[in-house]
Amino acid sequence: MGESRFEELRRYVGFDTEDERLLAHIRPIVLENTETIAAEFYRRIRRHPDALAVFRDEAQIERQKGSLQRWVRRVFSGPYDEAYFAETSKIGHVHVAVGLPQRYMLTGMNVIRVELARVIRTANDDQFDGIMRAVNRALDLELAAMLDSYFWALLHRAQEAERVQASRRADRLAAIGTLAAGLAHEVRNPLNGAQLHLTLVERGLENKRVSTQELIEAVQVSKREVHRLSNLVTEFLDFARPQPLSLRPADLRELSDRVVATMSADAAAKGVSISAVGPLGTVNADVDKLTQVLLNLVRNAIDACDKGGSVVVRTMKDATTCAVQVEDDGVGIADSSMPIFDPFFTTKAAGTGLGLSIAHRIVSDHDGTLGFVSRPGRTVFSVRLRAAESA
Ligand code: HEM
Repeated sequence: MGESRFEELRRYVGFDTEDERLLAHIRPIVLENTETIAAEFYRRIRRHPDALAVFRDEAQIERQKGSLQRWVRRVFSGPYDEAYFAETSKIGHVHVAVGLPQRYMLTGMNVIRVELARVIRTANDDQFDGIMRAVNRALDLELAAMLDSYFWALLHRAQEAERVQASRRADRLAAIGTLAAGLAHEVRNPLNGAQLHLTLVERGLENKRVSTQELIEAVQVSKREVHRLSNLVTEFLDFARPQPLSLRPADLRELSDRVVATMSADAAAKGVSISAVGPLGTVNADVDKLTQVLLNLVRNAIDACDKGGSVVVRTMKDATTCAVQVEDDGVGIADSSMPIFDPFFTTKAAGTGLGLSIAHRIVSDHDGTLGFVSRPGRTVFSVRLRAAESA
């Protein structure tokens, strides 16, 4: 069996059985004076706000005077064994836990040292030098064990911080991996489409057995796919590298009216009626970005009405919150547990799966929430934002 930490410390400090004998010898004098020692100890602490700050109240200080006196008795009584060392370490941990800066441990111990020397000198004992050497060794042991607690606590904290950071890094890498896989998947479809149709064009031009009309159609499909790729890249950058918000007071109802006007032609083309209703309500918002959110929700709502129907953009407000709801009477979202806000999740053949992720990100950036409820025939997406302070 190797030497324990305590044995090693004892040996380093040079604390031996002669020291134990001298501490026991002077114990009666010291025990008569523990109250004045504790009083001086706390008188010093009171002069230092940083030190005093670790106490909750006066009652705790009074209780601590008792703890300190019991501790002095212990230092002069032993037995100086493993259990003794464990108790000292525990006291050290209590101080780490209450947030006592380490420097007060050193200076505090010195106050005790000086007080003990003063008390012991009054005994006029001819072994004074030996006794003081024993006291100093005992106090050094105490201090070493208590500071050990600080060391281990700090090490533990640093390791914990490192662990948290490593796990965050791993999460981030995993997220980037998922995103990259999603992007690659989305890029491949239009690329394949364009390639296929360009090959068709190439063959047609070589053997002239394809009509001009067919050639034009193949080129148009290719162009559409390239356009889709270009949109995908723009949206992806929107999602992956959001620009900072530029906030100003904006009225949700005005915004809703503008979005409805913008989308009315698309809606009419699908036989969908669209309207905005509800009160005015001011929020602090990045108008362009919030418009983008509403356009996205309204476009989805119109898409959901595949046999005509109606879309209503409804504003609401109370004392603290303004909300916009986009409601449609279309097919509904089959399963409310689908990760519709995850990037690249889509149920549409031509969707990038980024629209709702971007919308969610933008609303979160506004400290707002974006949620939905859905059943066949009624789907409502709600954007809730903090109302701007009224002037
Ligand atoms: C340097 C020598 C010191 C010794 C020997 C000492 C001794 C003790 C002891 C024996 C306890 C009780 C531990 C337990 O509950 O198990 C304790 C707790 C405590 N000590 Fe010290 N202490 C010292 C320094 C300080 C200093 C400098 C401060 C503040 C400035 C301080 C503030 C406290 C506080 C706040 C507690 C916890 C009280 C509680 O749990 O209610 N100590 N100390």
